Amino acid sequence: MLRSQTVLDRRLQPLVTGNWRRVPDSLRDVLRIGAYQLSDLDRVPAYAAVETSVDLARAHVGARAAGLVNAVLRKLSATREATSPSDAAGGHGSLAATHSHPEWLVERWVARFGAARTRALLEHNNQRPPLVIQPLRWSAERLAGALAGGGIAFDPVPGGLGFTVRGGERVARLPGFEAGAFVVQDPAQARVVQFTDFPAGSLIWDACAAPGGKSLVLAQRHRVIASDLKPDRLRKLRAAADRAAPGLAIFAADARTAPLRAASTDAILLDAPCSATGTLARHPDARWRLSPRRIALMARLQAELLEGVAVVLRPGGTLVYATCSLEPEENDAQVNAFLEKHAEYRRTADDLVVFPPDSGSDGAYAARLERAA
Ligand SMILES: C[S@@+](CC[C@H](N)C(=O)[O-])C[C@H]1O[C@@H](n2cnc3c(N)ncnc32)[C@H](O)[C@@H]1O
Repeated sequence: MLRSQTVLDRRLQPLVTGNWRRVPDSLRDVLRIGAYQLSDLDRVPAYAAVETSVDLARAHVGARAAGLVNAVLRKLSATREATSPSDAAGGHGSLAATHSHPEWLVERWVARFGAARTRALLEHNNQRPPLVIQPLRWSAERLAGALAGGGIAFDPVPGGLGFTVRGGERVARLPGFEAGAFVVQDPAQARVVQFTDFPAGSLIWDACAAPGGKSLVLAQRHRVIASDLKPDRLRKLRAAADRAAPGLAIFAADARTAPLRAASTDAILLDAPCSATGTLARHPDARWRLSPRRIALMARLQAELLEGVAVVLRPGGTLVYATCSLEPEENDAQVNAFLEKHAEYRRTADDLVVFPPDSGSDGAYAARLERAA
């Protein structure tokens, strides 16, 4: 329902007498649930949608609220077609409203990607992403065999990027979970891991490691030191490492103030905190917490992190910088600014750019840099 919030509010507002903003949050939510059932769920008859919401309002808000919900939803039911978003006129404002995204973000994307690609991105964000798992301790063949043997419906993701699991099975119930056979990881993140291409046996520092999917995969072929600022986020990684990567060294640290000796690692993965505009399908409420200011704050933090980790890499080593953002100031512009300040670093590959509607996965960005020997 969060995916449709703007559209629902746009339908409800004209039907509520007085200021929509003054309607208590709990009552607004009941109205949204009713409007969602009326407009988006074909299987719920209109009378049932109205009655359910009226009951909810009576139980949780009060008798007067129940009367208001009844009146508003009956009007909405009668005028449903007339308020359809397909009536919206062109432009980024209506694109934002129709697809329930913040207008400033849609405006920014239209300016960069054009209207058609932005529309495809908005549609992608409004779909529920599938569960995808990547083989870890088991080979792809063994994992596929176990899934098939357990009666689990699945499809291989092209490019060796894991398996899409169908049917809503709980992760902990999938075959091989206790043995650390797999990790839940979107294909976009798996592509970032592939892109790192660190030489086998490298000593790698994963400087922003939690919750840890990439560390776990890298630890199958390398020696990995995994750290993160937030100890609570590392807890999940510790539990998974017990099952799947017992040799993984894990500790809490702020990567801005290099917790390791200078020139002491062969490779660094800086999977930086970001605005995460490439993962909005996965977190439908996150779009409403974003702002231009948040993107700028993230870009500043990423610049500090790059400065912090750069000194720890040994000459000749590889630094991979990655985000799940689609915004240039967090991606290529960030890396360009770093390279301008650090003549000892250079790009050694074309950047990886994963655009969700093209890949059918989350979005991702990565750049591979080498420190001069
Ligand atoms: C994109 S997530 C990393 C995802 C992880 N690499 C994975 O594959 O599961 C970014 C992480 O950076 C951490 N972080 C934020 N600020 C940090 C800092 N100053 N130093 C180290 N880690 C930080 C966050 O706690 C968050 O866990």
